[in-house]
Amino acid sequence: MTFRSTAEGWGPVTRTLHWGMLLLFVGIVSVGYYMTDLPLGPAKLKIYALHKSVGITLLALALLRVLWRLGEQRPPLPAMPAWQQRAAAASHLLLYGLMLLIPLSGWLFNSAAGFPLQWFRLVNLPALVGADPVLKTLARTVHHTGVAVLIGVVALHAAAVLKHHFIDKDVTLRQMLPSWGGGR
Ligand code: HEM
Ligand code: HEM
Repeated sequence: MTFRSTAEGWGPVTRTLHWGMLLLFVGIVSVGYYMTDLPLGPAKLKIYALHKSVGITLLALALLRVLWRLGEQRPPLPAMPAWQQRAAAASHLLLYGLMLLIPLSGWLFNSAAGFPLQWFRLVNLPALVGADPVLKTLARTVHHTGVAVLIGVVALHAAAVLKHHFIDKDVTLRQMLPSWGGGR
């Protein structure tokens, strides 16, 4: 068995990272929108700490995913017009960029706001910058806007995949699904 992607489909490492990170993204985005409206208190602080720890985990997974992807070839694209190939490549690049930008801007916001950062109460992480009100506002805007853009791009991404699967009836989705879930 090979861990890398082949002409038959995406490898098990890429498939696991793709679907595992999707689950974590759904969780962290839901928690993110929920936590900001909570009244100040210990529950809010705990949920913020969890959000940040999962966010740092996602940053590490995104770095691993990008490095892994740079070291492997993608399975061949099914036949499609050139503009669709370009749109797919551009949206994938944007998704990789947002995967890195969103947690990094969260970390930057946290640092510029002067808050401490711990990963699951196990590791103290350094501040990326000193307290800075202007950078704090900027990083917060990037964090919030990044998530909104991510939701939009993922909706388009999922719609394109479903179109390939149900209308074109090609292998795009089956190349990414786990073998026990209908993948090939
Ligand atoms: C992929 C990772 C992440 C995602 C998808 C994400 C998503 C979100 C979302 C949806 C919100 C609520 C935004 C709103 O109310 O409009 C939020 C807020 C926040 N996030 Fe993240 N986040 C991630 C990583 C991080 C990291 C790594 C940190 C810090 C180390 C962080 C710190 C914060 C903070 C402090 C807020 C509250 C901002 C405020 O008060 O307005 N996030 N995040
Ligand atoms: C229901 C949601 C989703 C579905 C159905 C889905 C499905 C797929 C499928 C079938 C592929 C393979 C496409 C191809 O062979 O060109 C793919 C690739 C990809 N997906 Fe998703 N995905 C979803 C959500 C996400 C999310 C949340 C992210 C990131 C935040 C993401 C990031 C990517 C990236 C970056 C690729 C390109 C891989 C590469 O070419 O390196 N996907 N997705």
